Amino acid sequence: MPRTIFEPFRIKSVEPIRVTTPEERARLLAEAGLNPFRLRSNDVLLDFLTDSGTGAMSARQWGAIMVGDESYAGSPSYFRVEKVVQDLTGYRHLIPTHQGRAAEHILFAVAAKPGDIVPSNTHFDTTRANLEVRGCDAGDLPTPEALEPKNRHPFKGNVDLVRMEALLCAEGARVPFGMITLTNNSGGGQPASLENLRAYKALLSRHGKPLIIDACRFAENAMFIKQREPGQSERTVREIAHEIFSLADGCTMSAKKDGMVNIGGFLALQDDAWAEQARRLLVLTEGFPTYGGLAGRDLEALAVGLDEVLDEAYLTYRLRTAEFLGEKLLAAGIAIVEPTGGHAVYLDARAFLPHLPQAQYPAWALTCALYLAGGIRGVEIGSVMFGRRLADGTETYAPLELVRLAFPRRVYTQSHFEFAAEVIIELKARASEVRGVRIVEQSPHLRHFTAGLAWV
Ligand code: F0G
Repeated sequence: MPRTIFEPFRIKSVEPIRVTTPEERARLLAEAGLNPFRLRSNDVLLDFLTDSGTGAMSARQWGAIMVGDESYAGSPSYFRVEKVVQDLTGYRHLIPTHQGRAAEHILFAVAAKPGDIVPSNTHFDTTRANLEVRGCDAGDLPTPEALEPKNRHPFKGNVDLVRMEALLCAEGARVPFGMITLTNNSGGGQPASLENLRAYKALLSRHGKPLIIDACRFAENAMFIKQREPGQSERTVREIAHEIFSLADGCTMSAKKDGMVNIGGFLALQDDAWAEQARRLLVLTEGFPTYGGLAGRDLEALAVGLDEVLDEAYLTYRLRTAEFLGEKLLAAGIAIVEPTGGHAVYLDARAFLPHLPQAQYPAWALTCALYLAGGIRGVEIGSVMFGRRLADGTETYAPLELVRLAFPRRVYTQSHFEFAAEVIIELKARASEVRGVRIVEQSPHLRHFTAGLAWV
């Protein structure tokens, strides 16, 4: 029996990739203020900036788009996706939004107040920013192994239950609910185990607190549980996903990830009172409750995407993609977050560029070097994203300096990943030539999106 895991789809529509020269890329990156977010995407060869909204839809999804009903109120497209979400999650209320952060914003407006603490394994940057804008503290309590890139613990997305319990005992009155990000994106795309989820739920219940899942990559998390958690290999991913959702009281969802669509999101809730308040806000900021910020055709594509994402051949190939690139890099002695996550490979920039101090943003410098070397666009998950400039001009730094190479779903083939491995391995051989960077302009929130930088 051949062992190669292949892309379980055929390609019927293609987009050309424009090939650029190193000289062109040097000019383009300088014009972008050394900020890959400011590049034009057709100047990028392999776009690993994000797996969010960048996937390829299936023929079935494109077919569903044609039956999208664009009625303002009561569209059958809404009821179709409502049933899919209810069947998947068991939550009574579906509140569609244009993407994940809108769901977060509404949830925090409804269920958190200024001064509250909302703990999680690790909040993603938009979630953290939405909490902070609301005057809340975002408490990151990942399992300690999550901070050790070389630790091959199978569930580095787990919550640290010891510190969580201490927080609930000391500051419980300030905690309106607990969250968990599946998979833990900022921590390496790492999954949480069912065992950890069950214990987290029980802990929160003892303190009378609900649990809300940031469910962006729930299907990848469920597949990791099937592959890695003792006693789970015989269950279907769908059954595991059901159990994950059954352990919580609601979820926020960026459907641009495991919803397999280019735009969309939702908030799904069990609680009637929260849902009613959320719908009131939805009408103000997103749209009528049966479409949120979406067109009827988007809702149709989402209804199909939420079904297709649980296909185990797809998920096997999906998780194998990151593992494949990761194996090649590890064999060449390149440090990455291990084991590889679901949607991305995370390069350890301090190991890659040991000559650069944190004050010169080694992970950001590495994203620039990857673009210059091979037109690869990754994203810094380090001190530009998570550090802060304090009033006295000094900076706080992130615990890890990572470069995330995130993979659009069903878009690139194995030879693209072989090319990426070659570029990275060649760059490593001359890593000492890579210069550090400094920030020359920045905004107070989410500074990485727009900052301008210069070589040191
Ligand atoms: N939560 C997580 C864990 C995410 O990864 C993201 C988005 C969001 C929430 C927000 O969702 O973009 O639809 O508003 N992550 C993207 C990324 C941007 O590149 O990882 P959104």
